[in-house]
Amino acid sequence: MSALPRPTPATTARLKTGGDCLRFANKLFKAGDIAHGQGFVNAKEESLTLLGHATGLAWEQLPSCFDRPLTAKAKTAFLGLVERRVFDRVPTGYLVGEAWLGGLRFRVDERVIIPRSYFVELIPEAIPQWLPPPAQVTDVADICTGSGCLAILLAKRFPQARVQATDLSADALAVAALNVADHRLAKRVTLHETDTMTALLKGPKFDLILSNPPYEPEGIYRRLPAEFKQEPKQSLVSGKDGLDVIRKLLVQARATLKPHGILVIEVGGLQAAMHRAWPTLPMLWLATADGSDCVCLLHAADLRRALPSPGARRGR
Ligand SMILES: C[S@@+](CC[C@H](N)C(=O)[O-])C[C@H]1O[C@@H](n2cnc3c(N)ncnc32)[C@H](O)[C@@H]1O
Repeated sequence: MSALPRPTPATTARLKTGGDCLRFANKLFKAGDIAHGQGFVNAKEESLTLLGHATGLAWEQLPSCFDRPLTAKAKTAFLGLVERRVFDRVPTGYLVGEAWLGGLRFRVDERVIIPRSYFVELIPEAIPQWLPPPAQVTDVADICTGSGCLAILLAKRFPQARVQATDLSADALAVAALNVADHRLAKRVTLHETDTMTALLKGPKFDLILSNPPYEPEGIYRRLPAEFKQEPKQSLVSGKDGLDVIRKLLVQARATLKPHGILVIEVGGLQAAMHRAWPTLPMLWLATADGSDCVCLLHAADLRRALPSPGARRGR
């Protein structure tokens, strides 16, 4: 396939209105075969988001520019963003410096994965129904927090809870700190630079441990579209079989959950691998709107029964 030619000044000179520019961008996105799925489901959402950024218009105000000429500055900015999206494969979230999840705005840049977790569907109702009433949930952990988006959604859903959020990446935690400050949650959300839950092992026990860890096997990562490879590799990949972080998490959660506590983990395409790895561990797969049902709920008591205690493994 021959390389897609960059738009020439002659082609773009005829673009006048916001609508002209959107149609042009959507055609170029299709011709360039960009991959969606980093917080956006289709070309239209991406082009509208870039137009909002270039014009300074809020999402609901965008229709006002569809039939009106854009200013030269807005048009140049928009076309520049579209070219970076198509020819440099920069994800739209990075181009605009923000992402939305659960109705909240989060800052994002190349130091963090762009928020898109299934947990946004499950934090409002499906997870709390397995716990005491939200006002009685006092200790929550978000393991592998990245931008901090899930820690922040958890703090809002459980208003009495202290939320401990961990990440191996100091860079990611710097972004998470900005988001925690933006949402005025610094008193209740604490960030820890640590492997999985290591820094939390000696602290209070948890009602809820939630994690959207990296879970792609190395081989799958190699085949991902170019825009996904602009995200930090350790956000996506977890060893040969994708289970490296989950293995540590199960053992550490076993030691840190309250007796009534639950662990919920997003595992992508690893359902079968999870059952193979822990055949005696009861796993409840929570329903998600797209039918992938890739979030696993585990009870503290089942983790204790199915996983050997660290002492037992040392022969004590
Ligand atoms: C899939 S991202 C999830 C980020 C965020 N929770 C979200 O849903 O958008 C996984 C995160 O785990 C972090 N990570 C990778 N390995 C880790 C480990 N061993 N311990 C703690 N964090 C880790 C990465 O730096 C990345 O920020």
